[in-house]
Amino acid sequence: MGIVIAVISGKGGVGKTTAVANVGLGIAQQGKRCIVLDFDIGQRNLDMILGLENRVVYDMIHVMDGDASLQQALIRSKVDNNLYFLAASQSKDKSVLDSEKIEKLVRNLKKEFDFVILDAPAGIESGYEHTIEFADKAIVVVNPEVSSIRDSDRAIGILDSKSQRVKEGKEVGKYLIINRIVPEMVRSGQMLRSEDILDILDIKLLGKVPEDRGVIDASNQGKPVILNKDSLAGAAYKRIASRLCGEDIKMVDIESEGGGLFKKLTGMFK
Ligand SMILES: Nc1ncnc2c1ncn2[C@@H]1O[C@H](COP(=O)(O)OP(=O)(O)O)[C@@H](O)[C@H]1O
Ligand SMILES: [Mg+2]
Repeated sequence: MGIVIAVISGKGGVGKTTAVANVGLGIAQQGKRCIVLDFDIGQRNLDMILGLENRVVYDMIHVMDGDASLQQALIRSKVDNNLYFLAASQSKDKSVLDSEKIEKLVRNLKKEFDFVILDAPAGIESGYEHTIEFADKAIVVVNPEVSSIRDSDRAIGILDSKSQRVKEGKEVGKYLIINRIVPEMVRSGQMLRSEDILDILDIKLLGKVPEDRGVIDASNQGKPVILNKDSLAGAAYKRIASRLCGEDIKMVDIESEGGGLFKKLTGMFK
């Protein structure tokens, strides 16, 4: 039985969809079967980052309504056979999601995949609530800025009061990705420090991802940045995926002078 992870943030534009694509691919590269689902109704996006937008015929609403089978709607990644994708509906009507149907879909996917990753829409309205409803765990994506932290704190509040697991008296494990860190700005005090963000949110750190121009280029090309061996953000997502797969990967202090890689390289010549 696989686990369901909702990727959430409250605020839009912080890097959720990018995280879903990269973490999903990273998990698949570790040999686990992974499916990523776009819950951003009316705003398809994940298909483009994965380079699969031309392959979409059926979406999750077709599956939920019985108009297509899972087999018909699942799209396999072109770069890794362990990664599958299920598209969001292009419907303008955000009320197309329904708890019972989501539960059935998620239950079926858990039988087939090790990881079921749900990409939440921005905001904390019904689309968000549906994304977290049947999650076993949540990955909270924030940028090192006050508005992002505040909105994700609200999103966590809703997760901790409205998800099915909490209703059953259990917990939803929460993990933090701090995205778009600019090390020089953290060092000069212009950007929030990871320690301060962790103090406010009080959840477990899953990884830190630096600001990286390569992320945008990669998304535009439909090739997630994790495929780029020279990208620091790609390497950060690789570590995050490994941690999710249970590996004990040391946290890299990307804010420190020269970054972790520089330190490692200089260490080699000592
Ligand atoms: N680490 C990063 N460095 C640079 N740009 C990034 C990074 N992460 C995300 N982005 C860019 O930020 C924008 C919003 O990302 P997206 O994943 O769509 O956010 P969300 O799903 O939270 O709305 C995109 O243009 C994406 O390429
Ligand atoms: Mg998104």
